[in-house]
Amino acid sequence: EKGGYDYFMLKEIAEQPKAVADTLLGRIDAGGSLTLDEVRISASELRELDKVVIVACGTAFHAGLIAKYAIEHWTRIPCEVELASEFRYRDPILDAQSLVIAISQSGETMDTLMALRHAREQGSKVLAICNTNGSTIPRESDAVLYTHAGPEVAVASTKAFLTQLVACYLVALYLGQVRGTKWGDEIGAVIRDLSRISGAVEQVLETMEPVRALARSLADKKTVLFLGRHVGYPVALEGALKLKELAYMHAEGFAAGELKHGPIALIEEDLPVVVVVPSPRGRSILHDKIVSNIQEIRARGARTIVIAEEGDEAVAPYADHLIRIPATPTLLQPLVATVPLQVFACELATARGNEVDQPRNLAKSVTVE
Ligand code: F6R
Repeated sequence: EKGGYDYFMLKEIAEQPKAVADTLLGRIDAGGSLTLDEVRISASELRELDKVVIVACGTAFHAGLIAKYAIEHWTRIPCEVELASEFRYRDPILDAQSLVIAISQSGETMDTLMALRHAREQGSKVLAICNTNGSTIPRESDAVLYTHAGPEVAVASTKAFLTQLVACYLVALYLGQVRGTKWGDEIGAVIRDLSRISGAVEQVLETMEPVRALARSLADKKTVLFLGRHVGYPVALEGALKLKELAYMHAEGFAAGELKHGPIALIEEDLPVVVVVPSPRGRSILHDKIVSNIQEIRARGARTIVIAEEGDEAVAPYADHLIRIPATPTLLQPLVATVPLQVFACELATARGNEVDQPRNLAKSVTVE
C-alpha cells in the first residue's frame, strides 16, 4: 500500500530514482548504444521524418516541452509540442513524414487519444510514451515506448513525469543514433550521464528537509511565481501546476526572459518567486541572464527561492532561500530540478490541510474531452 508513507504522493516521489532506473533498464547496451526494439517504426521511416509533433496534456505536456529542446538539439529535426486539446481543431499540417509522439501516463486521456487518431488519419506514424500496459493510447498507436514508473496512484503526477522525461530523452537519442545526426561524443556522453542520473535524483531526495520547512512557512501566501528558461522554463510550469493542483494557490510559471515584457509588474514585497537556474557551465550566457533576473525581482522586494546547481556561487548573494541540486548536463537538469518543486507543493498542500492524493475537482485519468 503506502509503504509507511502518509500519502501515495510521498511514496511516489520517493520511488523516482527506481522509476528512472527501471525506465532505462535494458535499453542501453554494453557498448553504450540504445536498443529500443519496442519502437516498431523502421529505421528507414525514421530517417525520412521531416518533423516531430508531440501531443499531451498537463504534466505530460510539460515533459513534451522539455523533449523539444532535446530532440531539436540532438537530432536537428524540427519539433512542435502542442496541447492535445488544441491540436486537431486547428487543422495541423501532418503527413507520412511526421512522427507524432503522444505522451500519457494513463493511456486513457481522451484529448490525447483524439489527437493521435487525427494524426493517424493524416497518415502520420504515432509513437506512444505511456505508463499503463495495454491501455487505449498505446493500443491505437503504431509503436509504444513504455515508462516503467509502476502504478501511479496519487492524482498529481510525479514519478510518471520523470520517467516520461527519460523516455523522451531515449527517443531523441535514438533518433540521433538512427539518423546519424550529431552522433558522436556528445550523444555517447549523454547516454552515459543518463545511465547514472538516478543517483542524482536520489541525492536530491536526501536533502529535502529545508524545502519542506520553507513550504510550511509559506502556507498562508496567496501567490507563488516560478521562473525558468531553456529546459528550466517547462520545469517552472510544472512547479506551478503542482502547486495549483495540490495547494489550491495561485501559481504561475514564466519564461524568465519574458519578465520584463509584463510579469515583472506582479512583483511586490515578500512575493515568493521560485527561480530554476540553468547550469553555469554549458549555456552560461543563460545563467548570467537569469542571475540578473533574480537581482531585478529581489530589488523589487520578491522573496527569492533559488534552485541552483552545487558549486554555483554566483546566485548565492541574491537567494533568500537556496536549494541545491547536483550538477547534470544542461538538457537533463529537469530530472533533478523538478523534484524539489514536487516536495514543495506536497508539503504546502499538507500544511494547508488539503487532501494530497485526491485534490478537489480532479480525476486521475480524464476520459472525457
Ligand atoms: C498533473 C496531472 C495531469 C495529467 C494529465 C495527463 O499532475 O496529473 O495534468 O498529467 O491529465 O494525464 P495522462 O498523462 O494520463 O494523459
